[in-house]
Amino acid sequence: MNHKVLKSKIIKIFKKYKLSNEHALICANAIINAELVDAPTHGLSRLKMYCDRINKKLINPRPKIKIKKISQSISQIDADNSIGFVAADIAIKEAIKNAKKTGIGLVGIKKSGHYGMSGYYAEQAVKKNLIVFCFTNAPPAIAPYGARKSLFGTNPVCFGTPTSSKVPFILDTSVSVINRGKIRVAERAGKKIPEGVALDKFGKPTTNAKKALAGVQLPISSFRGSGLAWMVDILSGVFTGGNHGGRVKDPFDDFSGPQNIGHLFLVMKSNLFVGNYSKRIKENIKRVKRLPKIKGVKEILYPGQRKHRRYKKNLNKQINIPFNIAKDLKKLDA
Ligand SMILES: NC(=O)c1ccc[n+]([C@@H]2O[C@H](COP(=O)([O-])OP(=O)(O)OC[C@H]3O[C@@H](n4cnc5c(N)ncnc54)[C@H](O)[C@@H]3O)[C@@H](O)[C@H]2O)c1
Repeated sequence: MNHKVLKSKIIKIFKKYKLSNEHALICANAIINAELVDAPTHGLSRLKMYCDRINKKLINPRPKIKIKKISQSISQIDADNSIGFVAADIAIKEAIKNAKKTGIGLVGIKKSGHYGMSGYYAEQAVKKNLIVFCFTNAPPAIAPYGARKSLFGTNPVCFGTPTSSKVPFILDTSVSVINRGKIRVAERAGKKIPEGVALDKFGKPTTNAKKALAGVQLPISSFRGSGLAWMVDILSGVFTGGNHGGRVKDPFDDFSGPQNIGHLFLVMKSNLFVGNYSKRIKENIKRVKRLPKIKGVKEILYPGQRKHRRYKKNLNKQINIPFNIAKDLKKLDA
């Protein structure tokens, strides 16, 4: 389907679920962006889940989002159980505003929900020539190093910087070997997952998506990944006032209350310490790119480059909607 047609369908669905025009547009933009960067695990495949949670009054479609100014640089947002896309969109704009004024913008968000891809918000700051970190916690998926039970989410770490070219540097990665959305999509499609990404509930390696969801996902690099997941939980949950320590509810399976996810956005002017940042970052990337390459590698890419290329290519293509998701879409749109 053409992305413009799909976007208007998503807007219509969110409005049917009582979101305002403005909020429906924010959500539709984020979902379409995920599809266009070939991350369908964070796009349409979650639309039904968001609508189900609105129906069950676990996402507030008409939130009264409160922004508390702590200083010129720092704001705290109580998102009133809004859909995560809306809370994050308001928050990144606030962080950008603060950074433009003082050099640094720090925004902590509580009572939010799943916001999709961190890189989508990081890009907004980078487009304004700012450096950015985005953190969010997520429902239990990873067992802390040494534990048998999951508690940390796949808690993405995201860093972005302008590069002096049109293509931003956006490192945006889950701290699990693969993101949970990929396991969910495999489960729905009845497909296997790769080896080495998850254990079943008895602690045995599995390639069965259903068993992996009931078991634990493996963090990247053993205790290092577990440590990063913990760091993100502290920054996004403990620090902001959001849920933490395994209390973030799974949006697909746990309908016992709102998620109360926390996010933290830190935005900085790139010229805080040097006047010639854009020259320095250009030189930095050039030094990496001109290294001798291993066999089979044509070009050394920086994080975000591939996504940018996919986005541009996909803009002129039809978005492929798998059969089960097309069925959901039709029902939601009826
Ligand atoms: N909201 C949530 O709760 C939540 C949880 C987990 C993940 N996510 C999101 O899921 C998305 C996907 O996460 P992921 O872990 O699957 O990411 P990924 O594995 O697709 O990419 C990770 C990083 O590696 C970079 N990369 C990929 N190929 C590269 C190459 N050849 N050379 C250099 N860099 C390369 C990418 O640009 C990206 O920055 C992210 O946007 C993340 O924010 C969200």
